[in-house]
Amino acid sequence: MTGFNLDDFILQLRAAAGESEPVQKVRFQDTQAISRAMPEFENDDEVLFEDDSVSIWFVRFMPGLHVPPHDHQTTATIGVYEGAEDNHFYLREGGQLVHKSTRRVEPGDVIALKPDGIHSVEAANGKQSCGIHVYLARLTTIERSLFDWETGEAAPFSDDNYDRMKRMTA
Ligand SMILES: [Fe+2]
Repeated sequence: MTGFNLDDFILQLRAAAGESEPVQKVRFQDTQAISRAMPEFENDDEVLFEDDSVSIWFVRFMPGLHVPPHDHQTTATIGVYEGAEDNHFYLREGGQLVHKSTRRVEPGDVIALKPDGIHSVEAANGKQSCGIHVYLARLTTIERSLFDWETGEAAPFSDDNYDRMKRMTA
């Protein structure tokens, strides 16, 4: 039986973040153990650890909310341990935001986005998803963008812009 300890997991992620092929190597092998061990967070976003080189977040997506297209300006690695995330990927082409692909990230899956990668995210199957997102920088201090769903025009990633651009789907 595989145990899971959040402090150890954070240490592993921090170590992986310093390597050339980073965080994807840290596997979410026993997602049920992770699920059992993770605290019940009140907020949908919680910073588990942050320094200048890495940010480790708990991220929950609730059904009915589609998080608007955005970038991270740093490599983002997403692992899911409960539910599933639908990640939609876009490129800005000719004054439009063009949907290129969608990836359903399920328990145990880990994906990585490049710093200029644009995605929107929603919980899959009408159920909440819980994951751990790892960014190779101090995310809270990064100036990053939200992108208009139609034109792809960039806007600062602020709470006001987020609320204006989010889509309620339920
Ligand atoms: Fe994101």
